[in-house]
Amino acid sequence: RARVLSGMQPSADSLHLGNYLGALVNWVKAQDDYDSFYFIPDMHAITVPQDPAELADRTRRTAAQYIAGGIDVEKSTLFVQSHVPEHAQLTWIMMCLTGFGEASRMTQFKDKSAKGGVESAGVGLFTYPMLMAADILLYNPDAVPVGDDQRQHVELARDLAQRFNHRFGETFILPKALIRKDGARIYDLQNPTSKMSKSASSPNGLVNILDDPKVIAKRIKSAVTDTGTVVSYDREEKPGVSNLLEILSTVSDTPVDALVEQFEGKMYGHLKVAVADAVVERLEPIRSRTLELLEDPAELDRLLARGAEKARAVASPVLAEVYRKVGFLAPA
Ligand code: TYM
Repeated sequence: RARVLSGMQPSADSLHLGNYLGALVNWVKAQDDYDSFYFIPDMHAITVPQDPAELADRTRRTAAQYIAGGIDVEKSTLFVQSHVPEHAQLTWIMMCLTGFGEASRMTQFKDKSAKGGVESAGVGLFTYPMLMAADILLYNPDAVPVGDDQRQHVELARDLAQRFNHRFGETFILPKALIRKDGARIYDLQNPTSKMSKSASSPNGLVNILDDPKVIAKRIKSAVTDTGTVVSYDREEKPGVSNLLEILSTVSDTPVDALVEQFEGKMYGHLKVAVADAVVERLEPIRSRTLELLEDPAELDRLLARGAEKARAVASPVLAEVYRKVGFLAPA
């Protein structure tokens, strides 16, 4: 069976609508057809400072949101990155294969280090894509379902896989990003030309899946729209309305064109109410299921331990093969 793998950072109490529509929805769809690995990249989260108690809590909360959002631990392997030490081990090899210039061209590093300047950025932020390449290559997935912003990182993983194969012999399957057309880029509700993001969005621009339904509805209803009055899809001229259409299209599984027809002659306000209702209806059960799951942290930890065991069974022989191929002497 073909395999997929993906992860979301535990860097906030709640996933946001972009994470949900750009990633989680597709993961849930994929688990019926693919051998699926979904993990929580806590090691990626510490590339920027995190409060330790909060990080542990958010790791568990993220796991709960995966499950509440539809990841079935019987079908998919769900685990925490730091529980599988092979990720850190393969990262070293990936770093040694990556060019300094190549790493410097990663746009996420450029964006994130731009704020405080490259000099004060952590080295972990720089080597982040090599950890991500290790995450991917340890499992030899055929596809990596992500939002559009992760495309470049998956391409690096592919380049490194190819380079390793070339230098040391066929080892890795070349992974490709699986990016759906709908939902691949959800924008900030207040600033609809920049993507919705836990770090960059203003609170009012963000919809968190664990927010109170009233808060969610209010934020959507006060989304920035555009000049004009006609509901139509135009990313350049009407980014706000287009973002709302895209959200509604993904949540309701209705093509944008059909929605535009449906809203012909109606005002922006009607669209906002429809989006708010649809999003609240979709997120409400996920929120309550998450809160329920969090009442039994020991059970969640047990599920994660079982997932880590399943993951290690795959990752460990791959790392052993890599070690042998690069010439590391096997311990006697
Ligand atoms: P992260 O945690 O930033 O985001 C998790 C997933 O959500 C998607 N996403 C969005 N999709 C649509 N619109 C948005 N506004 C939006 N914001 C985020 C992301 O594309 C992603 O799919 N480096 C990764 C985590 C990671 C990973 C991996 C992913 C670590 N190792 C291995 C795949 C494979 C990240 O920081 O995603």
